[in-house]
Amino acid sequence: AGVFTYDPGFTSTASCDSTITYIDGNKGELLHRGYPIDQLAEKSHYLEVCFLLLYGYLPSASELETFETTITRHTMIHEQMHYFFRGFRRDAHPMATMVGVVGAMSAFYHDSTDINDERQREIATHRLIAKMPTIAAMAYKYSIGQPFVYPRNDLDYAANFLHMCFAVPAEDYHIDPILARAMDRILTLHADHEQNASTSTVRLASSSGANPFACIAAGIACLWGPSHGGANQACLEMLKEIGSVDRIPEYIARAKDKDDPFRLMGFGHRVYKNFDPRAKVMKQSADEVLDLLGVENNPVLKVAKELEKQAVNDDYFAEKKLFPNVDFYSGIILEAMGFPTSMFTPIFAVSRTVGWVSQWKEQLADPQLKIGRPRQLYQGEILRDYVDIEKR
Ligand code: CMC
Repeated sequence: AGVFTYDPGFTSTASCDSTITYIDGNKGELLHRGYPIDQLAEKSHYLEVCFLLLYGYLPSASELETFETTITRHTMIHEQMHYFFRGFRRDAHPMATMVGVVGAMSAFYHDSTDINDERQREIATHRLIAKMPTIAAMAYKYSIGQPFVYPRNDLDYAANFLHMCFAVPAEDYHIDPILARAMDRILTLHADHEQNASTSTVRLASSSGANPFACIAAGIACLWGPSHGGANQACLEMLKEIGSVDRIPEYIARAKDKDDPFRLMGFGHRVYKNFDPRAKVMKQSADEVLDLLGVENNPVLKVAKELEKQAVNDDYFAEKKLFPNVDFYSGIILEAMGFPTSMFTPIFAVSRTVGWVSQWKEQLADPQLKIGRPRQLYQGEILRDYVDIEKR
């Protein structure tokens, strides 16, 4: 027995001290190490933001070059891991494959599993950031029956990812720099988001002393759910199901109906009670990409734009402070690039890896680190005697 604070969903519990990411949900503000996300999305790029999240400051030109070289030199995965991929059913969801393969990195990279060795921690950090795009792309290729495409270290992080997903041995694949930039932006915008469910999962797993690959696999598993990273897939599927602008009121009515479990995917956020600052940048990217691809009359985008307008002007959404979140537009961009919906959450996982790893490192350096062990309010039966089976 004991007196515990009851806080389901941890809406008012701070689980740690952190210096990485700051969010003011009422203002719609997101800062990484003090820098606003819109400036980072505009002026920086993914690997520089990775450095910032990991080490706390913007790198000098030579520091950035060294970091980029380190990451691009570790993009290949152990060749034996190819066999591990082949053990999955051919139509496995890429997230299922990623949970398994990333967890299995613990079995392939023994020299970076000792969390008490600073050098090993650093190697694990670099390996995870460098290899995650390769693993996600392989999971995708496997699910569509195409050969794995090896990484190209002469390409930047985002362009290399597009290459591994879309190149085939039979023909040349041209990577459009605008698409590579849009991919980089998607990665930048999802890089970290303080103590969200998957990051908290990574911290909880790590609090027991588990190795980094096991912890990140736990994060991937948590990210998969439709209330979290799975929302971008669910959002695009919803927009397609709505199909045309005239059906929007029907779906808004369903979202407002308490007896209907349906929610507008891509709307609402635990912390943001205002526009998600990432959604603003994402919307601009969506316009650029669709413009480039000549699909400005894309029916999904039309539905998305009109749905946003109607929902934002609806009293229910205004009262509950439900605004479009980052996932509302990311799915449209990814679809326009040619990704199937099943790849949306794996791409989120690629991006969030740096956030997970930064928080993992921060936690291990925290002198107050304790195993995460919440208590409960027990509501079950009180003490009673066992009843023999013939007497039940
Ligand atoms: N559509 C309709 N009603 C909603 C929605 C929605 N999308 N989101 C919340 N509500 C209502 C909800 O029914 C509740 O109403 P009431 O107070 O009458 O019971 C109220 O708003 C508060 O919702 P909640 O579920 O208590 O809030 P939460 O902080 O637990 O949930 C959320 C946050 C993101 C899980 C939720 O808004 C949601 O399910 N959104 C749709 C899924 C989504 O887009 N998720 C992506 C989040 S951003 C990316 C990421 O972090 O992974």
